[in-house]
Amino acid sequence: YHVLLIDITEATYINCLNSNFLKMVVSNIKQQIVGLQQELRTNLQHCPPLHLLLECVMRQYPEQLQRVEELLSRAVQLGESNSALIVGPRGVGKTAVWRVAMSQVLGDDHEGAVLVTLNGLVHTDDSLALREITRQLRLEQSVAMKTFKCFADNLSFLLSSLQSEKQVKAVVFVLEEFDLFCHHRNQTLLYNLFDIVQSTKSPVCVLGVTCRLDAVELLEKRVRSRFSHRQISLYPPKLDDYTSIAQHLLTVNANHAVCKQWNIDVEELLNEDKNVKEALRQLHCVTKDLTTLKQMLLVAVSAVKESEPLLQDSQITSAVDLMLADATPKLIQGLSALQLALLIAMMHLTVIYEGQGFTFELVFSEYIKFTRRRSSVQAFERPVVFKAFDQLRCVELVTPFDSSNCRSTVQKEYQMVKLQLPCQLLKSTLSTLPNIPTDLMQWAAFTYA
Ligand SMILES: Nc1ncnc2c1ncn2[C@@H]1O[C@H](COP(=O)(O)OP(=O)(O)O)[C@@H](O)[C@H]1O
Ligand SMILES: [Mg+2]
Repeated sequence: YHVLLIDITEATYINCLNSNFLKMVVSNIKQQIVGLQQELRTNLQHCPPLHLLLECVMRQYPEQLQRVEELLSRAVQLGESNSALIVGPRGVGKTAVWRVAMSQVLGDDHEGAVLVTLNGLVHTDDSLALREITRQLRLEQSVAMKTFKCFADNLSFLLSSLQSEKQVKAVVFVLEEFDLFCHHRNQTLLYNLFDIVQSTKSPVCVLGVTCRLDAVELLEKRVRSRFSHRQISLYPPKLDDYTSIAQHLLTVNANHAVCKQWNIDVEELLNEDKNVKEALRQLHCVTKDLTTLKQMLLVAVSAVKESEPLLQDSQITSAVDLMLADATPKLIQGLSALQLALLIAMMHLTVIYEGQGFTFELVFSEYIKFTRRRSSVQAFERPVVFKAFDQLRCVELVTPFDSSNCRSTVQKEYQMVKLQLPCQLLKSTLSTLPNIPTDLMQWAAFTYA
């Protein structure tokens, strides 16, 4: 704890010689470290408390946040109905923006409006979506005894009973993965929602959230004509913003000596340290998804030890390496000798047939030829070899040669397949495996002239 003891003045230092006092200091510091860990854990969880997001979202997307807030407040305060799409790549903070906007306009308990969130991945058809809407509006009982002529009737009944029973001013629908709702039959839900928005019977705000830039194109004509065509775009953060988001996520409330030192250290590490800057640049190049950034930081922070309670550059760089690691070599490491032999056979077949694809039969005959050449290698029966081959297909090291093939009625043994892995990568990975049989190694190194 030497770094942390700096705060203690000289006089108390002498007192420290008194061992009871020293114990107290150490236990105090331990408590501070526990507090620090807890705070970091909250910062880095997937859905952090809104007050933590607020500052960062405001800084990164001030315009977009303002536009969403304006839409919401118009619906709540003026009773205007609206619709809009929030568009941006995965993990840039679309959900964060509307959640922050909601809490800014409505306060934390969402007074004055009801929020209904649907997700295209979960609510895969319109009747499921309708049931979920009923549940979130807490109107199951009112609907229980009724039968409705059509979807529109049901939805408008829900909204009108919401107003008469519960005196709710506005309803905000958020449709996550909006593009998936476009594939529902007749786009009934979307049509009805946008229709209600236009008819201004009751104030309704419909926010679609999607990664697809062309989501509007997916709408049917009658649906599209009812949509406001308002789009709010979010862009992936630039490297500077990316770094400052990382810094924000790692910064804690500086109410103790430990936390102060931690914050100073994090700032220096992210902005000055060459290795860390390079690692962040690499990660940013590969993905600008903030979820990945958070996962990386969590891995780095988890590596901090109690005896060395400050973040090291090596912890960040190795966390980035872990995020960027290629899974294929790891996959190959876990294969049996038989499967490795099959991979090598397929590597040779790929070279011989110039990438034209091959069947299991060909692979099997190559394998048999190999076992005859090397008597020291155990030759497995055909069903065993096929099973091993099938497992390679399951982990997608081997894939159908063309995708139209995969639904065909041809028996698996005779389907055309290809090796889903560059020969060079296979060779280099094989040479790093510790216990690979020499025969296999030699076979892999063999080149057909
Ligand atoms: N400006 C920001 N600053 C810090 N973290 C953010 C910011 N925007 C989003 N996040 C975090 O990044 C992750 C992904 O954000 P999310 O809103 O779910 O992205 P999307 O909905 O676009 O896929 C979430 O854990 C969120 O808390
Ligand atoms: Mg989201």
